Amino acid sequence: MKSVDDSRSGNATDSWLARRRTAVPRGMASSTPLSAVRARNAEVWDVEGRRYIDFVGGIGTLATGHCHPDVIAAVQRQLGAFTHTAFQVMSYPPYIELCEKLNRLAPFTGTAQTVLFTTGAEAVENAVKIARIATGRAGVLAFSGAFHGRTFLTMGLTGKYAPYKRGYGAITADVYRVPFPVTHRGIAVEDTLRTLDALFYSDLDPGRLAAIIIEPVQGEGGFNVAPTELLRRLRELCDEHGILLIADEIQSGIARTGRLFAIEHSGIEPDLVTVAKSLAGGFPLSAVIGREPIMSQVEPGSLGSTYGGSPIGCAAALAVLDVIHAEGLIQRANRIGARLRERFDSWTHREDLAAVRNVRGLGAMLGFDLADAATARVVVSRALQRGLILLTCGRDAETIRMLVPLTIEDVLLSEGLDLLEQALCEVVPT
Ligand SMILES: Cc1ncc(COP(=O)(O)O)c(C=O)c1O
Repeated sequence: MKSVDDSRSGNATDSWLARRRTAVPRGMASSTPLSAVRARNAEVWDVEGRRYIDFVGGIGTLATGHCHPDVIAAVQRQLGAFTHTAFQVMSYPPYIELCEKLNRLAPFTGTAQTVLFTTGAEAVENAVKIARIATGRAGVLAFSGAFHGRTFLTMGLTGKYAPYKRGYGAITADVYRVPFPVTHRGIAVEDTLRTLDALFYSDLDPGRLAAIIIEPVQGEGGFNVAPTELLRRLRELCDEHGILLIADEIQSGIARTGRLFAIEHSGIEPDLVTVAKSLAGGFPLSAVIGREPIMSQVEPGSLGSTYGGSPIGCAAALAVLDVIHAEGLIQRANRIGARLRERFDSWTHREDLAAVRNVRGLGAMLGFDLADAATARVVVSRALQRGLILLTCGRDAETIRMLVPLTIEDVLLSEGLDLLEQALCEVVPT
């Protein structure tokens, strides 16, 4: 499978691609042909021994970089103690310590409780389960362009049909959708609210909604920031009708936007928060953090999964949160964001890079659009040839998104941006 960049592939890459093609179904696609063998902080080496600068960080999983020494040391200590009990059978200190820590950090006032899982989709599924129990209602309102996962419920919440839902048949009932405001596409907050009003008028009693789920900054959907005005109105609606507000912070959370949780920028308090990705620095772990009166309504035994909150993941996450604090990564996200924004803005003013537009995001979660998906694909491919790993997102995959490790060395950030600029210069004039 040579999806992006065939020209840099050598014998080892070709051989792994051939084996992969035979062993792994094509539904499980990769955006590059690379096969990784080693990684440190913001650099990855492939089977050819080639080194790449990584601006994708496992799709926003590596705020603390590849193999942060403190995270690896914490995991090794845990490996030396025990690897698994199943929390449903026997609890263990790292799980409880992590929940205590997340409860203290929760982006809302009042007492919090946290329950741990393995993947982002699993966290979203469970946030909705909890909301349904707490409200005794089934409906969920989600947004166009949203991405919440690939399981059946989360596919239903995801607001993009192809490729996520196409061909999978009936998905989930009781999911309602309104447009996410995207200024550069001419969708204003008023349009979203008007559509919501029309939905409540024509089809839906708001008293049937258990939850409204929103990404404070849409990830796959194109790095669109939820306007504070929208979040405020959603909070009011939730309060008025007894609906719970779920902030899906799986991509935007854990320091990425210059706050621990992106929703903190707005001052609006959610009832439930889902986190995963950078929480455990590359180890599979997710969490639902929620207000205690909501969380405590679910009866014993109806939450959980065999590997949920694995001791290894918990040990990694405790170390990640310490590293974020010790290395000032929240502040660093803002500094990285300022550097990215300055560079991207300068490109938008250049005649030779006229296709660069719509710079947007929060903190280090920044992206920009190119003319179309084809242009973005070629830029990603040319950047890869030069040694830079990039990823697109957006309605038509026309957006280049930045998910650099927040620990990236300044010199590597500059080198990566230079490579991106070179790729743009080669491709962009349209
Ligand atoms: C906002 C958001 N929610 C949910 C998910 C699903 O997470 P996972 O792929 O771990 O199931 C993602 C993954 O990209 C995401 O960005």
